[in-house]
Amino acid sequence: MKKVIIYGAGQLAGMVADILSQRDDLQVIGFVDDDPGQVGQEYGGLKVLGDGSVLSRLRAEGVTGAIVSIGNNRIRGRLANRLTEMGLELINAIDPTANVAGTASVGRGLIISSGAVVCTNSILGDNVYLGPGAIVSHDVSVGDNVLLSVGTVLAGRTIVERGAFIGAGAIIVAAQVGKGKRLTVGENAVVGAGAVVIKDVPANALVVGVPARVVRYGDRGGAV
Ligand SMILES: CC(C)(COP(=O)(O)OP(=O)(O)OC[C@H]1O[C@@H](n2cnc3c(N)ncnc32)[C@H](O)[C@@H]1OP(=O)(O)O)[C@@H](O)C(=O)NCCC(=O)NCCS
Repeated sequence: MKKVIIYGAGQLAGMVADILSQRDDLQVIGFVDDDPGQVGQEYGGLKVLGDGSVLSRLRAEGVTGAIVSIGNNRIRGRLANRLTEMGLELINAIDPTANVAGTASVGRGLIISSGAVVCTNSILGDNVYLGPGAIVSHDVSVGDNVLLSVGTVLAGRTIVERGAFIGAGAIIVAAQVGKGKRLTVGENAVVGAGAVVIKDVPANALVVGVPARVVRYGDRGGAV
């Protein structure tokens, strides 16, 4: 049985541990977390084994896989790269109640929560998080390190670029981009909870409301 660790013992960790506990091909041996206050803590019967410095020891002890359960898009991506460089395989945590179409193409290090749906011909990059009930319709393209909060809807043929954050219940639909064109939410953009995005969102923009409008621009460092 493959031994794996979960990097990040914060809010998403319990859900990831819960999903992985349902797999019989791997065993989660614990969490790794860089917050000194977390080391030694126990969640759902799994201990926080140490900070990132324990990874090489764990690797030597037979750990072969890992997943990053951290909400900050940039940190999630950076840590995932580090794990890969160390020779650890990035595993996917896909809840059994989620539905991923056979024609969808998905990356590594994914967290796909309960009831999420990924439809025909869609593409998910690496380290993408789909919250409970998030819907990725057909022919959608989602870049690396994107976070789709609970109840997000990405309508058909939309594009969400690398590092973007989509807030709870937001809807992205190409209602005003011109016939045949695809709507794009740009790199590192933030879409507020409940927004309805009907036209392109520039990179690094923060948009809110119905219809969504730009409030400001700025690099939030992957955090929301
Ligand atoms: C969009 C968001 C990131 C903005 O955070 P922020 O940078 O702190 O922005 P501010 O609070 O300064 O808000 C800026 C303006 O947008 C408004 N606003 C913020 N969020 C909004 C939202 N979701 N819908 C409508 N208006 C919103 C604020 O009222 C404020 O308006 P004002 O200038 O007229 O007072 C945050 O409000 C949000 O929606 N986060 C999503 C959280 C979420 O979905 N979490 C799920 C995790 S699974």
